[in-house]
Amino acid sequence: MTRIVPPLRLGVNIDHVATVRNARGGALPDPVRAAQLACAAGADGITAHLREDRRHIRDADMRRLRETLLVPLNFEMAATEEMVALALELRPHACCLVPERREERTTEGGLDVIGGGIDLARKVERLAKAGIRVSLFVAPDEDQIARAADIGAAVIELHTGAWCDLLTEGKATEAATEFGRLVEAAGQGTRFGLEIHAGHGLDYRTAETIAGVTEVRELNIGHFLIGEAIFDGLEAAVRRMREAMAHGRAVAHPAAA
Ligand code: PXP
Repeated sequence: MTRIVPPLRLGVNIDHVATVRNARGGALPDPVRAAQLACAAGADGITAHLREDRRHIRDADMRRLRETLLVPLNFEMAATEEMVALALELRPHACCLVPERREERTTEGGLDVIGGGIDLARKVERLAKAGIRVSLFVAPDEDQIARAADIGAAVIELHTGAWCDLLTEGKATEAATEFGRLVEAAGQGTRFGLEIHAGHGLDYRTAETIAGVTEVRELNIGHFLIGEAIFDGLEAAVRRMREAMAHGRAVAHPAAA
């Protein structure tokens, strides 16, 4: 019998096009143009993180993305009143709530959904009531995932950063353990009724591997793709990423390929 394996979407994060733009303070390179190219090459959605310090994406970028994109926009943001108000005004397809510390270089850990208490629950509820699909960026931790389901999130995005870092450091055993936690968390989240996404630090190889986890429905990838775009062009990098994902899915489920 042929198994039906759910498709795997690719969300391209264009934050670091804005990082390069901001290095010179002008208008180029334009992250919205990058978003359009990524879509032309097969991205299913675009992700942008409006940080509190506006170090890359700015409010005007979010507005232009919202006005011009024909694919879903995933608005990555801290769970602050300022960002919730902006999301309620912009009404993106999805909001991914992440922890944010001004001094960090990138999102370091998963969101403390339990510690967020009633305040986080109310923010999730307000966004969801406005028709926005709410995703919580979490470490592969069952208690956090259970709480995400309890407070009404539709999606969890599993933090793949620790796994990718361990692989980069050549710590194969620890990496295998962390990957096992991600696989287990994907199963737990699905059983709690959540849609499973994954992201952070992914490259062609790790995206291919995690594509083999059937419960994962979307990968959000930025830094690596924008880096590869310097050498191969953004469209080629996005196409190659799609191929890696398709290959990972097919190898893990040969009957469904
Ligand atoms: N998903 C989330 C929630 C993130 O915070 C980030 C980083 O902005 C990404 C995905 C993309 O990570 P990377 O840029 O390492 O691919």
